[in-house]
Amino acid sequence: MTVITVCTTCRRGEAREDRTLPPCGEAMLALVEDSASDAAAVTVRGTACLMGCEHGCNVAISAPGKMSYVLGSFAPEAESAEALVAYAALHAESEEGVVAYKQWPSGVKGHFVARVPPLD
Ligand code: FES
Repeated sequence: MTVITVCTTCRRGEAREDRTLPPCGEAMLALVEDSASDAAAVTVRGTACLMGCEHGCNVAISAPGKMSYVLGSFAPEAESAEALVAYAALHAESEEGVVAYKQWPSGVKGHFVARVPPLD
């Protein structure tokens, strides 16, 4: 099972300067949850701050014993959520959590921030 962890407190654009405006992270979480509703091998959760605040919206993709990834600079849009879920499904299929570049959905290209080997 691969987990998509969405930062619920991420901000973009004006909302980064004007703290009276709502963060976009909650909207991103709702979109990813909706996109993942039929993905049997993918679960979704929200968390506050992945410490990549300058390039929100941020998400992490992980599974026990597999390579983990942090991705950022997503707009809270259905296309972004669908690309993340498609990538997470491929991550779930991979024994080591490594998805070949040629399989990457175009919507995740250019969004990778970090890759973390299994820490357990
Ligand atoms: S608020 Fe999203 S990474 Fe910090």
